[in-house]
Parts: sequence; C-alpha cells; structure tokens
Amino acid sequence: MCAKIHRQSSCARGQKPNQLVPPCRERKIHKSWTFSLRPSPLGFARGTIAAAFCLCLLGHSRASDLQPLPGTNAVLRPKAREPIRPIPQSVPLDAAKVALGHKLFDEPRLSHDNTVSCASCHNLKTGGVDHRVHSLGINQAEGVINAPTVFNSGLHFKQFWDGRADSLEEQVDGPTQDVNEMGSTWPEILAKLEHSSAYVNAFKEIYPDGIQHQNVKNALAEFERSLITPNSRFDRYLRGDDTAITAEEKQGYLKFKTYGCIACHQGVDVGGNMFQPLGILGDYFGDRGKVTKADFGRFNVTGHDEDKFVFKVPSLRNVALTAPYFHDGSAQTLEQAVTTMAKYQLGRELPPRDLEQVVLFLKSLTGQYEGKPLP
Ligand code: HEC
Ligand code: HEC
Repeated sequence: MCAKIHRQSSCARGQKPNQLVPPCRERKIHKSWTFSLRPSPLGFARGTIAAAFCLCLLGHSRASDLQPLPGTNAVLRPKAREPIRPIPQSVPLDAAKVALGHKLFDEPRLSHDNTVSCASCHNLKTGGVDHRVHSLGINQAEGVINAPTVFNSGLHFKQFWDGRADSLEEQVDGPTQDVNEMGSTWPEILAKLEHSSAYVNAFKEIYPDGIQHQNVKNALAEFERSLITPNSRFDRYLRGDDTAITAEEKQGYLKFKTYGCIACHQGVDVGGNMFQPLGILGDYFGDRGKVTKADFGRFNVTGHDEDKFVFKVPSLRNVALTAPYFHDGSAQTLEQAVTTMAKYQLGRELPPRDLEQVVLFLKSLTGQYEGKPLP
C-alpha cells in the first residue's frame, strides 16, 4: 500500500517545472486506495496515510528549486526535505508566443457569437476563475462542472477534473467547441482570425505556416504556462525565510501533513499530480444526492469501474481566491471544503482550532503574478 503511493510520488517527483508527467500507473494506484482504504477500520487507514506521508517526505525538494531569492539574506536555510516545493521564479518561454497567446485568451471571437473569451470564465483579476458554481457560456448556457483556475495550470500532470487532456494544447479543443462554453469550430475560428490583419501578421512572425489550429493552441498554451504564481509567503518560508509565515500558519502546515492531506496535495502544485477518488472514507455522493454524469469523473474517460468518482487532485495554490470549491462547486468557503475533505478523505472531524490553522496555512499559499500579489 505504502509502496504503491510511494511509487506514485516518485513519478511526480521527477517532474521538472512545466514538464508534463506521464500517467504513472494511475489506475493501479487509486485501486490500492479504494480497495485497501474503503473497507479498513479507521485506525488502519490513518496509519497507512501517515506512512504514505512519511514516504512522501523523502527527497521532494531539489536544490535548484530552493535557491533563496536574489538580494535576500544569504544565511537563509532552505527547507530541503519538505513534500511541497516552491514554484520557480520563472520558466523559459517564448515571449512572442506568450503575448499572442494572451491576446487569444482575451479574444471573444474564439466563441461562436463573439461574446465569450477564455477570460470570461478564467478572469485573471479574480484568481483565474469566475466564482460561479457552474460557468456561463454563449447564450448564457450553464456548464456542468466548476471552472478551475488557469493559474499554474502548466504545472498539472493533466488537464480537466477528469484528466481527459494530456497537455494544455490538447485542452484548448474542449472549451472552444463545447456547446455550453464557446460553441465554435476550428474552421470558424480560423476564418475569423484570418480576417484580422493584426492576427495574420502576428502568427506569420512566429509560425511559418501562419494561422493554423495547432498554432492557436500552442500560443494559448504558452501563455498559460506563463501563468505561474511564485513567491507566496509559504514559498518564501520553504526558501528559508522563517518569518514569512506566522506560528499559526506553521501549525496549520504541520497539521496538513500529520492529518494526511499531504498524501494527495503535494509537490510544486500542492496537488495536480495524481488521481484520487472523492469519498474514500465516507459516501460523499450518497450524502450529497443527485449524482450527475460529471460526478463520475475519470470513469467518463476510461470506462473502468474503479475510476468512478475519481478526480485529478486539484492544486491548492491560490485556493483562498478560487471559491466555490470541488468539481461540483458545493463548498462556498475554505472551512467547508477542509471539513468535507477531513470527513470524506480521511475519516476525521477536525477540532475547530486545527481547522482554523489548516485554513490559515492554505491562505499562505497565495502567490504573485508578474511580481504583484494576486488580487
Ligand atoms: C464558459 C466558461 C469557460 C470558458 C469560456 C473557458 N473555460 Fe476553461 N474551464 C471551464 C470549466 C468549467 C473547466 C473544467 C472542465 C472540466 O474539468 O471538465 C475548465 C477547465 C480549464 C482548464 C483545466 C484546468 C485544470 O485545473 O484542469 C484550462 C487549462 C482551461 N480551462 C483553459 C481555458 C482556455 C485556454 C480557454 C479559452 C480557449 C477556456 N478555458 C475557456 C470553463 C471555461
Ligand atoms: C485521498 C486524497 C486526498 C486527501 C487525503 C485530501 N484531499 Fe483534498 N482533494 C482531493 C480530491 C480528489 C479533490 C477534488 C474533489 C472534487 O472536487 O471532486 C480535493 C479537493 C480539495 C479542495 C478543493 C480545491 C478546489 O479548488 O476545489 C481543498 C481545499 C482540499 N482538497 C483540501 C484538503 C485538505 C485540507 C485535506 C486534509 C484535511 C485534504 N484536502 C485531503 C484529494 C484529497
């Protein structure tokens, strides 16, 4: 059991910033969670999660991630053995593609009726989300699942709650053609872009074959890879600045680890590197009721029974800014989300002080975009 989780962690561990990780025997791994954890007495489950957590602690940080920031005190001692790694200060990207991708991200002409852009649902001024339970697309069509943030999406091992896209490039096919989102087609999008001399020139300068759907996807993806949010207070703490987070937040981090949240939310993204079922130690969907197709998660991609109710573990970076929470948008506050996680993933009820401290720790994960704190 522990070995299986450990193996999975080690897949994620080799991840370089922005490198997509191969699917790391994902089915086997959450099978082991479902089968060993669900029928177990709680004590055993806690033990195994704690053991997984111990294994996770080994060797997660790499020296290059932990370099103190330029201009900071040289006596800082980076925390080398933590299961969460700081987001790198920058990633190598093509600036011209990023600029074109940014324009496309804000471009309503990517939608059928020219009313909805990527930014409509992923507003960078509001945490990269729309704060709705379900987003609204063209003709005010309501989607079926909560919109995650685009910040740090380049750090995830897969895209979407059910992981159906392997790359950011592949992800773009989803919203542009989804009838509830932008409701367009590639021929329609390309024709509209061809109509604009500004786009024709911008594409020509970067891509020899000009406006092509794979180039639109590549530029959008390159822009999204630029949406990293380094320098959260917690990352400054990892880089050795012990005063960057408060004593309460340190306690919260400790509890995040000892309760076992860290077994699933870990690595540079504090999540985003594995699939796990929702409802390991409790019947989440039975208690909530009204199960929809979207609730089947990864099963919708693979058709395998063991993938029912399995989701990509979301990143908790900037999570204080991205309410409502969960794929169903059912938790309005971080307190509710953490309480639900403790109950259904760990079979625990957190005492109020522990809950408060874990939430304080999560709030210290809010980072900066382009050198400024996220609003
Ligand atoms: C109508 C609202 C809407 C629009 C427009 C929209 N998205 Fe999304 N986006 C969503 C929703 C909802 C999801 C989750 C869908 C799912 O997981 O099945 C999502 C998921 C994503 C993800 C995956 C993030 C993760 O953590 O898995 C990325 C990346 C993304 N969108 C980028 C884009 C880009 C780029 C565009 C423009 C081409 C775009 N979105 C347009 C609502 C929208
Ligand atoms: C067994 C793996 C696992 C454990 C342990 C776990 N989580 Fe999660 N967490 C998930 C998954 C999977 C989701 C996505 C669930 C969904 O929406 O379907 C999630 C979602 C969340 C969210 C919502 C994020 C968002 O953007 O919607 C928060 C907050 C969260 N977890 C915090 C915690 C905390 C705090 C703990 C410990 C008390 C914890 N988790 C323990 C797997 C886990």
